[in-house]
Amino acid sequence: MRTSKLMSATLAGLLGLTAAAQANELVLYCSVQEEWCRLMAESFQRETGINVLMTRRSSGETYAQLKAEAGQPRGDVWWGGTGDPHLQAAQEGLTLEYRSPMLAELQDWAVQQAETSGFRTVGIYAGALGFGYNSTRVTENPPACWADLLDPRFDDDVQVANPNSSGTAYTLLATLVQLMGEDAAFDYLVKLDANVSQYTQSGGAPIRNAATGETAIGIVFMHDAVAQAVQGAPIVPVAPCEGTGYEIGSMSIIAGGPNPDSAKRFYDWALTPAAQALGAQANSFQVPSNKGTPVPPESPALDQIRLIDYDFATYGSSATRTRLLARWDAEIGSRR
Ligand code: G6P
Repeated sequence: MRTSKLMSATLAGLLGLTAAAQANELVLYCSVQEEWCRLMAESFQRETGINVLMTRRSSGETYAQLKAEAGQPRGDVWWGGTGDPHLQAAQEGLTLEYRSPMLAELQDWAVQQAETSGFRTVGIYAGALGFGYNSTRVTENPPACWADLLDPRFDDDVQVANPNSSGTAYTLLATLVQLMGEDAAFDYLVKLDANVSQYTQSGGAPIRNAATGETAIGIVFMHDAVAQAVQGAPIVPVAPCEGTGYEIGSMSIIAGGPNPDSAKRFYDWALTPAAQALGAQANSFQVPSNKGTPVPPESPALDQIRLIDYDFATYGSSATRTRLLARWDAEIGSRR
């Protein structure tokens, strides 16, 4: 009797300890640029005392990681990165349905993203796709349209990421398909390939390489080009004349993650104006999703850009994303 009482006390103690340890940790998978990831992790940790273990990976890579870990999820929250792979993860049940009380404060496009996913993801920011060029490398007839990037004078002078790892590059693929039709988009990508020096792993790398002059042009989100210009690099952001697509950067709670309470706490916090305002501090100029978060003055104005009516439900679906990436591998990736 005494032994069993002691045992249950010990067990309870152990369980209590485990619960306390769990409540004090958050495993964060982050898909924006490193500086912003770190600032989010540090700020949440400082405000809550919850220890944050953060890893930065591109959007497509993080989706693949969630899929690989589905049997034994190790992450709690996937914060940032383009919306399409978040939608695919939602459709495949890799992420958890959660209706944050903060939804009421968000822009319509952010709530729509939640609705499309059955509330398994939510919009945290938006940004238009485009490109940037280095004005010391391109001094005459600067490119203004997608078509201009095929000009032979840019041979080996264009960089873009690989759409398997990068959400930015998948947004390009889906944008071109929606603008031109699928076969014409792949014809364009084959021609573009003749000018591409390198398909980088992360979506932001091409414009960092353009800033140093390693390449003349980087295809990126326009706010990533703005970030380089703000830091003094000779980068000019361009909204392509034919029109362009955009992202709804998203956040999802990972189904079966080790710290579900910390996950919800982070999720609600990340949707507050104070947390969203950290973006601008980290040199990130997306449009924030909370209506109360000031839009940084540097943010490209989305209502001044010719945006396509991007079909997130289709291009974020498992079938379409998987098929388009396989076709890209067969027709573009295999040429390398
Ligand atoms: C950059 C952009 C984000 C975007 C992210 C996607 O960090 O600033 O707006 O969501 O890239 O990264 P990826 O490496 O997946 O293209």
